[in-house]
Amino acid sequence: MASAACLLCYKIPAVLMLVHLIVAFMTAASAGNFYESIDNTWGDGRAKIFRNGELLTLSLDKASGSGFQSKNEYLFGMINMQIKLVPGNSAGTVTAYYLRSEGSSWDEIDYEFLGNQSGDPYIVHTNVYSQGKGDREQQFYLWFDPTADFHTYSILWNPGLIVFYVDGVPIREFKNLESIGVPYPKNKPMRIHSSLWNADDWATRGGLIKTDWTQAPFTASYRNFNANACVWSFTTSSCISNSKSSNRAPHSRELDSASQEKLKWVQRNYMIYDYCTDTKRFPQGLPPECTLANKS
Ligand SMILES: *[C@@H]1O[C@H](CO)[C@@H](O)[C@H](O)[C@H]1NC(C)=O
Repeated sequence: MASAACLLCYKIPAVLMLVHLIVAFMTAASAGNFYESIDNTWGDGRAKIFRNGELLTLSLDKASGSGFQSKNEYLFGMINMQIKLVPGNSAGTVTAYYLRSEGSSWDEIDYEFLGNQSGDPYIVHTNVYSQGKGDREQQFYLWFDPTADFHTYSILWNPGLIVFYVDGVPIREFKNLESIGVPYPKNKPMRIHSSLWNADDWATRGGLIKTDWTQAPFTASYRNFNANACVWSFTTSSCISNSKSSNRAPHSRELDSASQEKLKWVQRNYMIYDYCTDTKRFPQGLPPECTLANKS
């Protein structure tokens, strides 16, 4: 149990229209213990927890994949997880790791890791949904082998900004541009979800490469789940934080200039798809956030 101070807490009025910031102190929940922080949601025993809660694995075989979700719901925060992706020929498999709210017009902030066959790189697929609508995909290669070791995949989510980080390097930002009519996820609390499943109808080269079941079971591993985040309960939310949490303020609305540079480096060298440049897909014109996002 790490105990630490809460840096910043959000208080949410019942109407959910305004977000007031209040400063408060509280004892952190234990971070990183999967027994305490997650529930296995499907897969009939294929999601397993080891080492007193420090390690979790999901597995996929021909009969089923598996998945888990966080016990807590969060409304804003910095969520970190170390993941080691399915090694070997993982073509056809998808490891999804995302924040999602309940209901039919849900919000979602999404990582999906698309398995690779020998010789091809893993693809990191990202998306942001607001009120049930996504269509904001960006895809990346990584600058390391994500199957050889654990790496940290983070989501920063606050009222003004969403940032996807890999090992602390921002790979994507999505700003709150409600001012120009772009829906932004900010009213619905979300849980962390992760699942490993067979998506060989689309995942690898658009579904051309099928899952090789002779390689099953496929396994992805997780550790050091850490939410420096505001835990939702009914009409209020309070923030937890702990010693391992990053010092990036969860409330900052802009990346600092060093982070901007890193983001540009990733986007120049590792981005392989950006909906904002897919003019064929949007014959009526690109979504409004794209014209702004691509400036600078
Ligand atoms: C999958 O991609 C990673 C890089 O993303 C690479 O290091 C790894 O060797 C690839 N796997 C296979 C089986 O080629």
